Formats: sequence, structure tokens, C-alpha cells
Amino acid sequence: MISFEIFVSFFCGILFVILAVGSIKLKIPRKVSIKGIGDPRVVEEYDRISRLPQFKLIRQNIVKKLKKYNIKKVITDIGCGPGYLLQNIAKELPDIKLIGVDISKEMIQRAKNNLNTIGLSGRAEFKVGSVEHLPFEDLTQDFIISTGALHHFANPNLALDEIYRVLKPDGQMLIFDLRRDVRRIFFWLLWFAQNIAFRIMGLNALRRINEPTGSMLASYTIEEIQEIMSKTNFRDWTIEGKTGWIYIWARKKPLLTQ
Ligand SMILES: C[S@@+](CC[C@H](N)C(=O)[O-])C[C@H]1O[C@@H](n2cnc3c(N)ncnc32)[C@H](O)[C@@H]1O
Repeated sequence: MISFEIFVSFFCGILFVILAVGSIKLKIPRKVSIKGIGDPRVVEEYDRISRLPQFKLIRQNIVKKLKKYNIKKVITDIGCGPGYLLQNIAKELPDIKLIGVDISKEMIQRAKNNLNTIGLSGRAEFKVGSVEHLPFEDLTQDFIISTGALHHFANPNLALDEIYRVLKPDGQMLIFDLRRDVRRIFFWLLWFAQNIAFRIMGLNALRRINEPTGSMLASYTIEEIQEIMSKTNFRDWTIEGKTGWIYIWARKKPLLTQ
């Protein structure tokens, strides 16, 4: 019979190996994953997971960050999905007007319904459109936010040039996305969510399109983001790397220095 001490030592040893290997950063080539996000079953399931506490917590952090910027009148959310971030902003920043843009008609419809359900439909306007051809005139947007969408954009530099075009002088942009150069343990957690938790929750449409691990593998490393940002017209920008995600902030040149 195995003694309790041997069992504990064995368990601690296994835990040590998991933590040691898990703390090594993931180093794998980017694998693009842009399929299926407009499928009605995927939209339905994405809407469901967006209401989970983990997602709420992330949105709260994003709104906390937004409050630090001097946002004049309007926040435009590109790739707004089912619109939960817009809901949070509407509640926390009552004087700000909101615009949601998404390439998927289904997502936009879902976002409209979601805002309507909680009586906030008057706070936001929605447009179907791609980040590569934004439905705005030059120099018209105060502040652009985009969360969890950068890795879906076919050409990130085209997207950032387009964001630059529509921003007013001194306008700002905040992008939040996953990062691929995470510690392996973070990737394992996503794998567990996809293959165990999502299976139990019946989120089969998301599993079929390989989410959420597909999104992580399609996301960028900090180095890649630096390279991308250095090719844009933005001169004032910062990248903030967190455990499993990244914030990219940038400001367009003020009028005097255009
Ligand atoms: C993972 S969801 C993120 C949704 C939401 N921002 C969030 O944080 O929950 C990515 C969203 O980006 C949208 N999207 C993908 N490519 C796009 C593009 N080229 N232009 C605009 N939206 C795009 C998708 O339709 C989807 O709603």
C-alpha cells in the first residue's frame, strides 16, 4: 500500500512539472482562424459565453481603463460582436455616445437586441461594416475601441490605416486582444475550456470552429504587434502585455503637427 507521504510527494512532483513546463512561453507559428463567426449557431453560443463571469470581469477591466482616457463624445467599437462591452460603457460612461460596427449582420442584430432588452437601445447606433472599409468619413471619430477582433482581421495593417483615417486629430484607439506568446498553462486552460467545459455546456458550434484555442493561435505576439504598429502612421503608441492578452493604445497626431 502507498503511504500518504509517498502520495503527497508524487502529487507535488507532478504539480511541479506541470507548473514548470506550463510557465514556458508558447512558441508556435501563427495559424489564421477566421471561419464561421457569422454562423447563427456560433453567434448564439458566443453570446452565451460572453455572459460568463470571466468575460464580465475582462470587460470591467477594459471599461476601467477607458475611464482614464479623456474621451470627448463618441466611442466606436469595431468588431463589437453581441455588444456587451457597449452595454458596460453605456452604464459606466453615461455622457458618451456609442457606435458599434461589425462585419457580421447576425452579430449586429444580436447587439441591437441585447441593448434593447435592457432599455439602452437609444444609447448606441450600429453599422454593418468591415474594419478595412469603415463606414465613416475621414477625421470623424473621437475614440476607437476593438476587443477580441484584431486576430480576425485579414490584414491588420490595412485595418490600422483605416482606423487612422477615420480618427480625428488627437483621436485615440485602444485595441484589446489575445496574445500568442502566452505561458503554456494559459493555452492549456483554453484547451480545457474548449474540450471539456464547452462539451459539457453543449457549445458545439464553437468547438467545431476550434474556439477558443483557434483564436489564441491566430493572435499575435508582442514582437509581431510591435512590427505591425511600426508600419502604421501612428507615432504615439504603447503596447501593454498582460498574462493572456495585450492592450495596444495609440493616438493620432494633433492638428498642429499634421
Ligand atoms: C471574437 S468576436 C469579439 C466580439 C466583441 N468585441 C467581444 O469582445 O466580445 C470578434 C468579432 O469581430 C468581428 N469581425 C471579424 N472580422 C471583422 C472585420 N474585418 N471587420 C469588422 N468586424 C469584424 C466578428 O464578426 C466578431 O463579431
